[in-house]
Amino acid sequence: FTANMRAFLFFGLVAVALADVTRFEGDKVFRLKPHLAHHVTLIKELAQSIDVDFWSPDSAEQVTIDTDVDIHVPAKYLNIVYTTLSQSDIEHDILIEDLQNAVDGQADSGPSPRAHSYTKYNKWSDIQAWMDSIAASNANLVTKQVIGKTYEGRPMTVLKLGAKGSSTKPAIFLDCGIHAREWISPAFCQWFVKEAVSTYGSDNQMTSLLNQMDVFVLPVFNIDGYEYTHTNNRMWRKTRSRRSGSSCVGADPNRNFNAGWCTLGASSSPCSDTFCGYTPESEIEVKNVADFIRQNKQNIKAYLTIHSYSQLLLFPYSYSYDLAADHSELMKVAQGASAALSSLYGTRYTSGPGATTIYPAAGGSDDWAYDLGVKYSYTFELRDTGRYGFLLPESQIKPTCEETMLAVKYIAAYVQKNL
Ligand code: ARG
Ligand code: ZN
Repeated sequence: FTANMRAFLFFGLVAVALADVTRFEGDKVFRLKPHLAHHVTLIKELAQSIDVDFWSPDSAEQVTIDTDVDIHVPAKYLNIVYTTLSQSDIEHDILIEDLQNAVDGQADSGPSPRAHSYTKYNKWSDIQAWMDSIAASNANLVTKQVIGKTYEGRPMTVLKLGAKGSSTKPAIFLDCGIHAREWISPAFCQWFVKEAVSTYGSDNQMTSLLNQMDVFVLPVFNIDGYEYTHTNNRMWRKTRSRRSGSSCVGADPNRNFNAGWCTLGASSSPCSDTFCGYTPESEIEVKNVADFIRQNKQNIKAYLTIHSYSQLLLFPYSYSYDLAADHSELMKVAQGASAALSSLYGTRYTSGPGATTIYPAAGGSDDWAYDLGVKYSYTFELRDTGRYGFLLPESQIKPTCEETMLAVKYIAAYVQKNL
């Protein structure tokens, strides 16, 4: 060993120790099928005694009879889970045998270029550089606007897409990456921007849309969380805000909007993955987006937010079982959009109000935008239905984005026709 080699090894080890990367060797993802009331009780009890990571639904409170439950179980708890499952004969499958293998298997689309790619999961610095370059090379169509900073100080950049004119145009707001680990979501926003700039002038619908309307795209809403999933913990969901008095980090941005805040399907415990935050809009990222939409509410006609996974197209309400005033129109548009989506590869979507289609959960951005007056308010849950869950392989980015484009364009065309 030369002195150089020793130094290299030493600093290498220090870097690994400081990085504190969570690994998932031996962890499994189960799908449980509670068919009886006592199955539901057992799953909730299990979630209290050990630290399981809920993939779907988002928390133990939302477990109900006859709805599949996907949970990530850390290797150290497997014995407890197996014992519970066998003693109670809850029907179950294993979706992912080894979660670290699935994490490592996501990048299945060939060697990584050291830069931005539409068919890769890009890290934040690459997305940021991409925004600069696509705005610079499409100055006629794209304007960058920083709507505020994240908790850790990263700029929240919105790309405004639309032919430039003198007067303000009606607009659609599209965001991705509210939840950090749903990587297909930011990939879709990037795809959407690419499609917009590359088909404007050749595709009739895109041309007409961007002539008459603007589309505000926020490619990554929860940037701090997204970065954290790349550097430390692939399974992180929340923001990264801290408060004195709790050692737990972050709140669920989709429980932090001021819409029936923290009444249902959300947790007031800071350590929970569905923590609603200390007050509505306590998360600066939520406040920045809400302020931006409030400032532009005269123009914003549709609010679209992209999540994964489950293949759903949801609309208000989720904080209540009441039907939205525009229920039948929202349902009709959702069904048209789902049909358009399926026409490409046969991917099946379910549409409906959040509360009854999945589970009640208050504080979501869709309900908040709707109650503010943005009628066409939709939450997409993209591919898949659990085979890979949040770890959708990169080889599926292209087909997922292509089919989703059809649904988004369907909704946009409807909104444009009904201005
Ligand atoms: N899986 C999403 C979430 O839990 C669904 C959002 C549906 N809308 C809502 N307002 N809960 O955040
Ligand atoms: Zn989500």
